[in-house]
Amino acid sequence: MSTRFVPVERPLLGTVRVPGDKSISHRAVLFAAMAEGTSRLTGVLDSADVRSTISAVTALGARVEFSGAGPAGLGLTVNGWGAAGPRTPATAIDCGNSGTTCRLLMGVLAGWPVSVTLDGDASLRRRPMRRIAEPLERMGAHFAATDGRLPVRVSGGGLHGAAYASPVASAQVKTAVLLAGLRAEGETSVTEPALSRDHSELLLPAFGVSVCVSEDRLTSSVAGPVSLTATDVAVPADPSSAAFLAGAAAMVPGSEVVLPGVALNPTRLGFVEVLRRMGADLCVEATGSVGGEAVGSITVHYRSGLVGTTVTAAEVPSLIDEVPLLAVVAVCTHGTTRFEGVGELRVKESDRLAAIAEGLGRLGAVVRSGDDWLEVDGTGRLHGATLDSLGDHRLAMAWAVASLVAAGPVTIEEFEAVSVSYPRFAADLAALTQSTGK
Ligand code: S3P
Repeated sequence: MSTRFVPVERPLLGTVRVPGDKSISHRAVLFAAMAEGTSRLTGVLDSADVRSTISAVTALGARVEFSGAGPAGLGLTVNGWGAAGPRTPATAIDCGNSGTTCRLLMGVLAGWPVSVTLDGDASLRRRPMRRIAEPLERMGAHFAATDGRLPVRVSGGGLHGAAYASPVASAQVKTAVLLAGLRAEGETSVTEPALSRDHSELLLPAFGVSVCVSEDRLTSSVAGPVSLTATDVAVPADPSSAAFLAGAAAMVPGSEVVLPGVALNPTRLGFVEVLRRMGADLCVEATGSVGGEAVGSITVHYRSGLVGTTVTAAEVPSLIDEVPLLAVVAVCTHGTTRFEGVGELRVKESDRLAAIAEGLGRLGAVVRSGDDWLEVDGTGRLHGATLDSLGDHRLAMAWAVASLVAAGPVTIEEFEAVSVSYPRFAADLAALTQSTGK
């Protein structure tokens, strides 16, 4: 289905509480499903990806009850499988579009004597799974896969701990190995080349599991076997979803937007640093902490005269999901913005590196790209066009943000992909553009 966006003639004004954090929601549901006892979760993101995790843990034997939905998200009561372990489901588990569901489940299932097939949609079937299977095989799990892609059959149990040096900074790899380590004999550690998001390290202690983190924070370890105990978790708002509204406000003259209740985990806030380097006026104010995560508001006041910047490879893990948005903002700067070390974008929900270059090019931007880099010239001008989200939620939102400053309408094919992480994105954006103030 295509959706047409017209350029805005007014600033973005107002306050939006964006939905619950996708990464923390997946972990809260999964850890609660693994735990002994009943956990109460609030603020859980109600999106296609998180629904995939809820369906998966239900098929594996956890009991999930919907205990209410509010503006901040879903309330869930989860009775975990605990010491009994997951049961073997009758059919393959469909992880939909969700890489986090699939990869974290590979780690969970590796620890139990079950044989489970994991599958997903066409996008997920294209994404690499060897990066997860390889360390888990070293720990004793078995994977029957076709060329390292889905569908994959996991046969687990009898694991021993391992010290794994991951070639990629990936929280999905790190978490899968640590979750398998909870069921392995001895210590399991993961060392990353750069720090990826650390939500698992922050949330596992709430479920009674100690996670050791080295001084440089690049190595995380657990000592197994250890079991999880149910707890209550409140999920804060998603900084990656907030980024799209923050970026939009940074681009549209006169805008003033407040985004409260956002997880302010530094491993996720690279986009704030980059927008500030571009000259945007962002105020980040911590108001407290929820479930081990710092939480607060992000306020953006439009400021003219944005400039291009270089995003270094070292920064990329902290803004990996925000590159499509930052590339759009880069058009509204003076100078060139260069993204280095962004090869990982090629194996996201789409080949995002190619898709950003192609889509921005269609909008009239001047873009150059290589294997793992991207450059966007700050020409300040975009025209209308028809763009494809390729079923990728972050591209759909990036193109909608681009439409705010385009000279003509932007039609986005498969805009409904936003349901993966931010189902009411269009409504929230429209509320800000139609508002006359707070
Ligand atoms: C996620 C980790 C990141 C991110 C994804 C969610 C997670 O992927 O891109 O949207 O919740 O652990 P990688 O770990 O593969 O970088």
